Amino acid sequence: AQSTLVLVKPDGVARNLTGEVLRRIERKGYVIEDLRMVRPTRELLTRHYAEHEGKPFFEPLVEFMGSGPVVAVRVGGHGVIEGFRSLAGTTDPTTAAPGTIRGDLGRDWDAGVIQNIVHGSDSPESAARELDIWFN
Ligand code: GTP
Ligand code: MG
Repeated sequence: AQSTLVLVKPDGVARNLTGEVLRRIERKGYVIEDLRMVRPTRELLTRHYAEHEGKPFFEPLVEFMGSGPVVAVRVGGHGVIEGFRSLAGTTDPTTAAPGTIRGDLGRDWDAGVIQNIVHGSDSPESAARELDIWFN
């Protein structure tokens, strides 16, 4: 079966939403295959968000993602890459659909960067690359 990388970002961990995120993943029928808590280095985050290097939100994004512990999860299941993106909802939690993780649990915090609780790989290529970065 397919696997994807899910991150509970520092805002999600700090707000004690790790269990809620894992609960939604499990209720959907996906499997938690591996899990670890990490305080990511700048180097790791630069690799992870390489596609965004040079964009105006890159620095605040790396700063935010390094501001506290992150829970990295390898999640498995048929169609899970697309399926978790659907569970997570769209990037901006202000407008993410209710029923999704971001839509139900996120909001705008005037924080300089969008804080949206979770990350999920956006393609099979991204999943392979990101799982290699976070789980070695
Ligand atoms: P991730 O799962 O974290 O990768 O989110 P995503 O795939 O929904 O969004 P994307 O990969 O395009 O952007 C990564 C992160 O950069 C987002 O989660 C936001 O925190 C931030 N970001 C993306 N686009 C914008 C933007 O237009 N403005 C700002 N301020 N931040 C952005
Ligand atoms: Mg992304």
